[in-house]
Amino acid sequence: MAGARPEAVNNAPVNHPVTFTSTFHSQAVAGSGDRVYARFANPSWDGFEQLLGQLELATLPALVYSSGMAAIAAALSLVPRGGTLVLPRHSYNGSLSLLAQMEAAGDVVVRPIDITDTAAGIAALQGADALWLESPTNPMLEVAELPVLLAAAAEHGVLSLVDNTFATPLLQRPLGLGADVVVHSVTKSLSGHSDVVLGAAVTSNPQLREKLHAYRTLHGAIASPMDVFLALRGMRTLSVRLERAQSNAQFLAEQLEAHPAVGAV
Ligand SMILES: Cc1ncc(COP(=O)(O)O)c(C=O)c1O
Repeated sequence: MAGARPEAVNNAPVNHPVTFTSTFHSQAVAGSGDRVYARFANPSWDGFEQLLGQLELATLPALVYSSGMAAIAAALSLVPRGGTLVLPRHSYNGSLSLLAQMEAAGDVVVRPIDITDTAAGIAALQGADALWLESPTNPMLEVAELPVLLAAAAEHGVLSLVDNTFATPLLQRPLGLGADVVVHSVTKSLSGHSDVVLGAAVTSNPQLREKLHAYRTLHGAIASPMDVFLALRGMRTLSVRLERAQSNAQFLAEQLEAHPAVGAV
């Protein structure tokens, strides 16, 4: 079972215990992989990070952050300073606000596009450094042609970053379509019970993961062990919750469509 404890030995717990500690006993041997201090690593994160990495088809574990915005800030730190970023003009408001601040500080030049216009999206990649995608977008639910846009980004050598919060990896796996980094607000469908605020970033690129990891450590954007335990537990039921959410949405759409007072659905 993905994200479960690997030691299938007698009496071993099937779940990852929650480890509340700030510091780990350490031999302080360089390169030994010692955890040392809980801002650098916490075994409570491992199961969640392995599971999300596998679901997103990454060859490396995900990185969990204190919120979706922390994961987004980490991903945006990968854009070269002063670089041009193409993004859906109706991206999540928090992403747009953060980017407006970054642009005002001269950190990035933002190039907003209509994400439903694939040709315009491809044209906007000329001379760009990075492409931010969110599909479906929050709250407009606009859908981008991810395979085409991600292939074009790769062709132009443009770093591609995808907020996959709304689709979840059960419906859409951008890394498999060529994206460099996927981010999530784990707060939403992944954890699923409105009891945590968490984020995550996923990549198969070791250099990018190293930078994302350093960002988390140095900005202190780390997740509470208990929150990650709850998120992993929530993820166990993601597939059944998603099926029900979709059938509920289908039912609602059909009811509204048949209603005489509703003009369009
Ligand atoms: C698509 C999307 N991305 C990112 C975020 C930010 O995540 P968080 O609230 O966990 O920081 C949200 C939150 O609503 C969101 O809907």
